[in-house]
Amino acid sequence: MAHFDAYSRAINYLRVSVTDRCNLRCTYCMPPEGIPWMAHEQVMRFEEIALVVRAAAELGISRVRLTGGEPLVRAGIVDLVRILAGIPGVEDLSMTTNGVLLTRYARNLAEAGLDRVNISLDTLRPDRFAAMTRCGKVEEVLAGIAAAHDAGLEPVKVNSVVIRGQNDDDVVELARKTFEPGWHVRFIEWMPVGETAPEDDAWRHKVVTAEEMKRRIEGELGGLEPVDGTVGSGPARYYRLHNARGTIGFITPVSEHFCYHCNRLRLTADGQLRPCLLSDNEVDLRTPLREGANLEQLKSLILQAIEIKPLQHRLNEYGHPENRVMSQIGG
Ligand code: 5AD
Ligand code: SF4
Repeated sequence: MAHFDAYSRAINYLRVSVTDRCNLRCTYCMPPEGIPWMAHEQVMRFEEIALVVRAAAELGISRVRLTGGEPLVRAGIVDLVRILAGIPGVEDLSMTTNGVLLTRYARNLAEAGLDRVNISLDTLRPDRFAAMTRCGKVEEVLAGIAAAHDAGLEPVKVNSVVIRGQNDDDVVELARKTFEPGWHVRFIEWMPVGETAPEDDAWRHKVVTAEEMKRRIEGELGGLEPVDGTVGSGPARYYRLHNARGTIGFITPVSEHFCYHCNRLRLTADGQLRPCLLSDNEVDLRTPLREGANLEQLKSLILQAIEIKPLQHRLNEYGHPENRVMSQIGG
């Protein structure tokens, strides 16, 4: 049974950032000068992550997602997947990746017990992709998406962060991919996080709301039909273009916060349990772990984090998180 927080939300989902490093440099995720990487000894070791996941699973957290940075640049990631997939109570093990290394790893990940992947891709245009990621090649990600399908990491979902003036017109071409090859695409409103957030209210102008994306897609490709029932366990609302195989989801942290249904905790690569993506409050697990905390002690620390989970974020009152950039949280 999942545990409930102070606002009666069942907490059943843990995002585990396994590294703050990445082989891309997305402009919204890291500042131009980069960030100093976490020191090796600050980073949680596999057996430490496994103990946290075991404790979480005993508390009813049955869904675990590996994130980064880019999780596939962590050495031995396939071994970690195998360890976590074997923990009783972990029913859904997934990963959010930029896809660049999936041609190399998709099959091994599936064999090790990974259920599915979400792949971040904000534009299909090679020049624009290179600019937004400050170095990436879009063909590698496209090949990675195909490799994920071939390996059966289904449903493969494509996540696109939409930012005004950067890729707001890409929503149409990405939405077209739900016809052929039948992708599931989710559009995410850009959020101001860490140093990549502008200092004043100017950040609002960068946000393209789901309403606006929807209008744009419907203007070009026809009506979006709501998909009945629940698809996935996250905050997206799903639609389908007429006769499309794939779905289109919208994730609206800014225009319509979904905090009342939030079901998750986040573990950072340096072992801090973060009850809310958009709040700097954290519970340190690494120090107690290295001082020999056992499973029961870890469980009580996790319950502490569940107890201090805030009711909702405060983006509307300048409540941006400031202690970390996105690559240090994992989205
Ligand atoms: N706003 C919204 N989504 C973001 N992501 C990274 N930074 C932001 C941001 N500022 C997304 C990534 C990836 C996931 C881990 O989080 O694109 O899909
Ligand atoms: Fe890397 Fe993902 Fe951040 Fe881009 S958004 S720099 S791919 S971690």
